[in-house]
Amino acid sequence: MKIFSGIRPTGELHIGNYLGAIKQWIELQEKNECIFCIVDLHAVTTPYKSGELQKNILELAVAYLAAGLKPEKCVFFIQSEVKEHAELAWLLGTFTPLGELYRMTQFKEKSKKHPEYINAGLLNYPLLMAADILLYQTEAVPVGLDQQQHVELTREVARRFNKKFGKVFVEPKSLLPNVGEKIMSLQNPKKKMSKTDHPQGCIGLFDTPEEIKKKIMSAVTDTGKQIRYDEKKKPGISNLLTIYSLFSEKTIKEIEKKFEGKGYAEFKKSLANLLIDSLAPFQRKKQEFLSREVYIKEILEQGKRKAQILAQTTMQEVKKKMGLS
Ligand code: TYM
Repeated sequence: MKIFSGIRPTGELHIGNYLGAIKQWIELQEKNECIFCIVDLHAVTTPYKSGELQKNILELAVAYLAAGLKPEKCVFFIQSEVKEHAELAWLLGTFTPLGELYRMTQFKEKSKKHPEYINAGLLNYPLLMAADILLYQTEAVPVGLDQQQHVELTREVARRFNKKFGKVFVEPKSLLPNVGEKIMSLQNPKKKMSKTDHPQGCIGLFDTPEEIKKKIMSAVTDTGKQIRYDEKKKPGISNLLTIYSLFSEKTIKEIEKKFEGKGYAEFKKSLANLLIDSLAPFQRKKQEFLSREVYIKEILEQGKRKAQILAQTTMQEVKKKMGLS
């Protein structure tokens, strides 16, 4: 299967990105044709510091490697280095009704959060994402739940293009993880984990043991004492149980049983230790890759060349069909 996905270089990865997206990527790379992108053109649609972007891009590449992506098994590259992404996004915009873009949940949420920064790029964000996916004849897109709507829009855009101009694009589907499609903030279990919303509610993939302990021990829990999964009545504990289950590979039932009759503090302590142990290898590998900048730049360069060839082939077809060449 042809797979494409990406992450914005907006600072350190958190366990929501890992459980929602990267964990799936690592499994998928073994048996599929995978392309994973560092989507820097998406990162500039919300407030950012231009002086930090190059550092964030490199750190995301390091994080991809530290988390377990293997450059010999998949392609990874920087979005802005393959100009066809921006070019195709423009063309897709010429036949996509504005109403479909205004309806996107992410556009509404981000506009509310940054009322001073409602730019056309933010509105067009899903079209650039559609271009990313469609350029590579992608069949499946492994993402967290928050991105499912954008993949649905991508299908619609592909369908519309194929009908209007003739078949070029494959209609992709989203691949959500069975559990972990939406990891919630530790400080507000009704909102998704996100670094910009609640730094204290978000565990970074490279957090130190002290940070992990502090964040887990101060995670918001619910009234009552029982360690029991109930999303409606116990959203805080349910979120922690989900995280516990994904890192321990035990079922939620098994974990509930393990902590029967025990209190929140004991459960949290055990979860903090589990996370510290599970994330330690990432931390170690990150240090190792950070000192290999030349190697990482070479991987990105090779990725760019491979991606360019594929993207150019699709663009030629698109232009021909649209009468632009
Ligand atoms: P970004 O950087 O916001 O998120 C990267 C990935 O992490 C997932 N994710 C989560 N999953 C579970 N729980 C959470 N709390 C959580 N927070 C984030 C996101 O669903 C995503 O899979 N627009 C994309 C980037 C993108 C892209 C693409 C993805 C650009 N082009 C083409 C796929 C295909 C995004 O949200 O990035």
